[in-house]
Amino acid sequence: MADDLDMLRASIEAAIAEAADPRALDAVRVSALGKSGEVTALLKSLGALPPDERKARGAQVNVLKGEIERALENRRVTLEAFALDARLAAERMDVSLPPRPSAPTGPDAGSIHPISRTMEELIALFGAMGFAVAEGPDIEGDWHNFSALNIPDHHPARQDHDTFYLTAPEPGARRPVLRTHTSPVQIRTMLTQEPPIRVIVPGRTWRADHDATHSPMFHQVEGLVIGRDIHMGHLKGTLVDFLRAFFGIADLPVRFRSSYFPFTEPSMEVDIGWSRKTGELGQGGDWLEILGSGMVHPKVLANVGLDPRVWQGFAFGMGIERITMLKHGIPDLRPFYEADLRWLRHYATSPLSPFTLHDAA
Ligand code: DAH
Repeated sequence: MADDLDMLRASIEAAIAEAADPRALDAVRVSALGKSGEVTALLKSLGALPPDERKARGAQVNVLKGEIERALENRRVTLEAFALDARLAAERMDVSLPPRPSAPTGPDAGSIHPISRTMEELIALFGAMGFAVAEGPDIEGDWHNFSALNIPDHHPARQDHDTFYLTAPEPGARRPVLRTHTSPVQIRTMLTQEPPIRVIVPGRTWRADHDATHSPMFHQVEGLVIGRDIHMGHLKGTLVDFLRAFFGIADLPVRFRSSYFPFTEPSMEVDIGWSRKTGELGQGGDWLEILGSGMVHPKVLANVGLDPRVWQGFAFGMGIERITMLKHGIPDLRPFYEADLRWLRHYATSPLSPFTLHDAA
């Protein structure tokens, strides 16, 4: 090969070897093989040569071009391998280290989600009143979720557009549901525990609803008390004490308003005093519905084999998101499930911070 081509090849190969990253390598490629590159210029100059010289020279330039292309490709592969090694070294982790050498503080510290926090508070407050925690499955049978609770076949809560139904296990059988409330755990508890009973049931519930105040998955807490001489005074005292302690307002106005639920008789909705204008709880002369309650319906007791002439009790149910939003002034339900760290830093609480059990008046 002619000396000038040898020299050119040596200088391009040196530049390739020096290119430290894909960008520098690309610059070398352009200066050699690009539109106005050195090798391209040689190819263009062939046309000016006499035909007998052109053939030999053309073959030599093409060999040079092939060599440069191969050198570029080899260097590219090498650089990629370097980059991968560097990344692996930078992201190396020592799996033998303990997960938390010391409890982190500041913005990286773990924190308790407001839903979990409210559940902990519910368990502590009702626990102080002698309630245990009961649980049940998210996928319920039709009987537990509806029929045993005296909810008739034509009730709107059973309609397809409100309830997530699963496929029936066999033709003709009733379809299982994602439980639409925590009330089926009343049934499960009465079937498995001898009265007297005093339980709360915090847990997930499901309904086909989605907007700023409804989510297809949400949480409720159910309460159930069964005994020989339980009456409405127990219901009222328990709920007034709970609401005042939970919201931390000793004189929170509480109103019992007659209502209807298939599984209680009589049934009451419970309202707390607030100001519609400012959103402040405890004053302002307006009422806000907060939960449903009532004396357990005799048919429900009979459905689980308890004699309604011997046993009576009360039950209640409320939305955990709802009382959490009210307590902390959270305007929108959707961020509860979005795991946005900015929202969590604002509304979540430190695992170490205690909450006070306010004295209810
Ligand atoms: N299960 C009802 C609902 O999801 C709430 C409820 C109302 C529960 C009254 C009760 C009760 O235990 O007594 O809307």
